[in-house]
Amino acid sequence: MEDYSSNLIRLLEQLEREQTLPVENYERLITERNDTVIRVAAEMARHLCDRFFSRNVYTRGLIEFSNICQNDCFYCGLRHSKSIRRYRLTLDEILRSCRLAWELDYRTFVLQSGEDMYFTRDRLVEIIQSIREEFPEAALTLSIGERDRACYQACFDAGADRFLLRHESADAEHYASLHPAGLALESRMQCLQDLKEIGYQVGAGFMVGSPGQTARHIAQDLKFIETFDPEMVGVGPFIPSEGTPFAEEKAGSLELSCYVVSLLRIQNPQRLIPATTAVASLNPEGRIRALDSGANVIMPNVTPLNVRGDYMLYNGKICITEEAHAYRDSVDALLAKHGYERHVGRGDYKEDRHALR
Ligand code: 5AD
Repeated sequence: MEDYSSNLIRLLEQLEREQTLPVENYERLITERNDTVIRVAAEMARHLCDRFFSRNVYTRGLIEFSNICQNDCFYCGLRHSKSIRRYRLTLDEILRSCRLAWELDYRTFVLQSGEDMYFTRDRLVEIIQSIREEFPEAALTLSIGERDRACYQACFDAGADRFLLRHESADAEHYASLHPAGLALESRMQCLQDLKEIGYQVGAGFMVGSPGQTARHIAQDLKFIETFDPEMVGVGPFIPSEGTPFAEEKAGSLELSCYVVSLLRIQNPQRLIPATTAVASLNPEGRIRALDSGANVIMPNVTPLNVRGDYMLYNGKICITEEAHAYRDSVDALLAKHGYERHVGRGDYKEDRHALR
């Protein structure tokens, strides 16, 4: 036991020093982990996070502007073949959500949706330009799935700054087992590459404990993140969603999700890593546990309440009834209680590996 711990702690130190490990060693960090190693990883991760961000936590106002999706991902509660109430926000409703987010001090707006092709390149550009015009100082993040490069480019030119597109699994076979035939890891990776080349700050990520996921798969995900080096990484537990092929599968664990957050922080201390809604939905302590493990971003929901409950990615998703002001206050209270501070600002990625602030 002791030996295991000290060997793994040496691997953690090597990861901190070199910011790279062979995939076998990532796998060992997963399979041989124990409570001591998990605790040491969280302490190292939080220490590194404090060094670059002090106790600041960045916020992003999340606007779920359409739950319509052409895809049929096996895990997702918004999958095309699931019969749920569908909605799309109008430009006006989106702008009102941005105003609410701004009023709450959120200086990044995240526009998230299913793959809803009603929002053509031109419609997206119109939305982005309208937001840009009214909020020149806010950062704008898109999370709208796979599009062609010209669309990504047009959105960037219109003023979008960041893009979230989880890779879901870096192993092609595992990826294929989570998605229907039309979706392939190759096209997901092409999208991520395009986004990076265009100049977006890019977010990748994956679910922890998705059906069929092995320690080897997580190791491959960590290797992919290491080499692709996205500015943002979103990880959270898989949580089953009723009425999907994975409805009866088991949820991912809080411990492993938070441990993966720590490894990602140690791998690159400057990244933006959210304490995800999934981790908070799994366990009331989830959000704070993720922050204490090295996360530094929270994404409060500012979607209009009349449709919020229709964006049910998985069972038990939280924040579907909380009024946005009250929620902001509860976030503030949680952060204050644990010695964190809500930072007011865009919260951009800063490439400054050696800066110790
Ligand atoms: N459990 C956890 N996360 C999920 N997502 C989709 N469905 C689930 C689920 N059942 C995640 C995916 C997607 C993001 C928007 O939400 O990783 O990229």
